[in-house]
Amino acid sequence: MFNLKDEVVIITGGTGTIGKAFSRALLDAGAKVVLWSRGITVPINETVKELEKSAKTENSIFGYSVDVSDKNSVKKGLSAVIKDIGIPTVLINGAGGNKGKSSFIDADMKVFEEVLKMNLLGGLMIPTQILASYWIDNNLQGSVINVASAASYIPLSGVWAYDAAKSAVLNLTMGAAKEFAPYGIRVNGIAPGFFIGHQNRDLLYTDFEKKELSPRGQSIIDHTPYRRFGRTEDLKGTIVFLASQKASGFITGVTIPVDGGYLVDNI
Ligand SMILES: NC(=O)c1ccc[n+]([C@@H]2O[C@H](COP(=O)([O-])OP(=O)(O)OC[C@H]3O[C@@H](n4cnc5c(N)ncnc54)[C@H](O)[C@@H]3O)[C@@H](O)[C@H]2O)c1
Repeated sequence: MFNLKDEVVIITGGTGTIGKAFSRALLDAGAKVVLWSRGITVPINETVKELEKSAKTENSIFGYSVDVSDKNSVKKGLSAVIKDIGIPTVLINGAGGNKGKSSFIDADMKVFEEVLKMNLLGGLMIPTQILASYWIDNNLQGSVINVASAASYIPLSGVWAYDAAKSAVLNLTMGAAKEFAPYGIRVNGIAPGFFIGHQNRDLLYTDFEKKELSPRGQSIIDHTPYRRFGRTEDLKGTIVFLASQKASGFITGVTIPVDGGYLVDNI
């Protein structure tokens, strides 16, 4: 049920912390994994080499330089995957992140637009439009997994555009699921709680090397019933479950929080 040997999975933002965690889980389950990234924070070939070491089979991890907020770049990326590897069956929309933090009044509109564009246009709309239209035109089934956040349900303070974009990810996961169901295309989401990534490290730690939490980092731990940040292994089971047609083939429009209980914390 959890064997993914016939799947070709594209992961956008694949060189990031969460993208790599997804990659490891999917490789373990036998999938071919394709990373799409701009390669700005971490070079793509470095990540591919690192993941090759943990891959059980040869020729199962690939990387392409793709800017997901640029339609032409995504189209080119898709043609390359089809030519070099095979027909993609799963798209994981993992590209995204936040930039800084401010009061509502001081929110810089240029940064606001950048964050919306990264998480919503590149992080969901453009790759989904291109993959879904390819599947529909070729009479193929497929599956999309969006990466939502705790911010999709409850706003995180000071990160206005991130909150706006991630709540839209939750909404569009449901809307797109209904739209694509007649074509056999599933659309689901995973909502990680707090995992240390490049994008949030400086918000959660005052000194990452010394593991000194910022007041915000401490507050998150205090509001997480499991009393810790997420570990990347925590995401493995959910991503394999959602990617597996056999395990979750009748599930669409659903987003699963993986957050140590953050969303159910109460007094
Ligand atoms: N880390 C967390 O605690 C957490 C929690 C909830 C949700 N998320 C979400 O998970 C996803 C991955 O986060 P992460 O923590 O691994 O961050 P990360 O910064 O480690 O990785 C994000 C990746 O997205 C890539 N990216 C951004 N814009 C892109 C573009 N236009 N084209 C191609 N690639 C692009 C970046 O280069 C980076 O490799 C994001 O959507 C983030 O919002 C993270």
